Amino acid sequence: MRKPIFAANWKMQKTAGEAEAFADKFLPLVAGLDRVDIVIAPPFTALDRLGHKLDGSHVALAAQNVNAEERGAFTGEIAPGMLVDLGCRYTLVGHSERRALYGENDERVARKAAALLAHGIRPIVCVGESLEQRKRGDALDVVSGQLSDSLATVEASQADDIVIAYEPVWAIGTGETATPEIAQEVHRHIREQLRVKFGEAGDRIRIQYGGSVKPENVDELMTQPDIDGALVGGASLDPEAFSRIVRFEKT
Ligand code: PGA
Repeated sequence: MRKPIFAANWKMQKTAGEAEAFADKFLPLVAGLDRVDIVIAPPFTALDRLGHKLDGSHVALAAQNVNAEERGAFTGEIAPGMLVDLGCRYTLVGHSERRALYGENDERVARKAAALLAHGIRPIVCVGESLEQRKRGDALDVVSGQLSDSLATVEASQADDIVIAYEPVWAIGTGETATPEIAQEVHRHIREQLRVKFGEAGDRIRIQYGGSVKPENVDELMTQPDIDGALVGGASLDPEAFSRIVRFEKT
């Protein structure tokens, strides 16, 4: 049985003070909820103060990006060791906004994933097709290609430390969620590929769905056999909404 995992991706939202205020409201709402893993990825500037709030709770801290290098002349970048220092346990890599807006390609995603794993941080590797790619009937091929190239550096012995997030680009921030059946079709495809690459460890890797997940649609998505949680943007900014999402009801 895979333990569901829900991650909040706050993107470029919330100051450190706002992140602390979120934690004050959110933590009591999820107290004792240990049947799911919960992760919050605030902006870099809120990691330190939010991390202190989450200390001693079962909610894990994550970053939204990382540089694959250890140190050096990389103005504006953050190294994996710096995230370890702040208590990050997960980090997003290859989010579609980074792929589309900041030239993050699969090769770079693979290097980031390897660097994170070397530092004991779990990468949440994001993949997903655009609307044009889906309309052309290429969704499964696009996702397969992203997945195999982004995981090129990951060994079978590391498989238990990765999380995959399938986020169809056309569903992110649009209010348009993939139907549970469409999402499941891609998740099943990802699962098969993970089994081929990692053997039985592929069965244990959690695959999150992302794209306009909210309290109203999470229950239905979570009925699908290969959907093991969600990566949540907009709806994770509100403590009540995110707590309802992580308390999904499986029917
Ligand atoms: P959304 O974002 O939930 O606002 O669609 C998801 C994401 O980009 O991770």
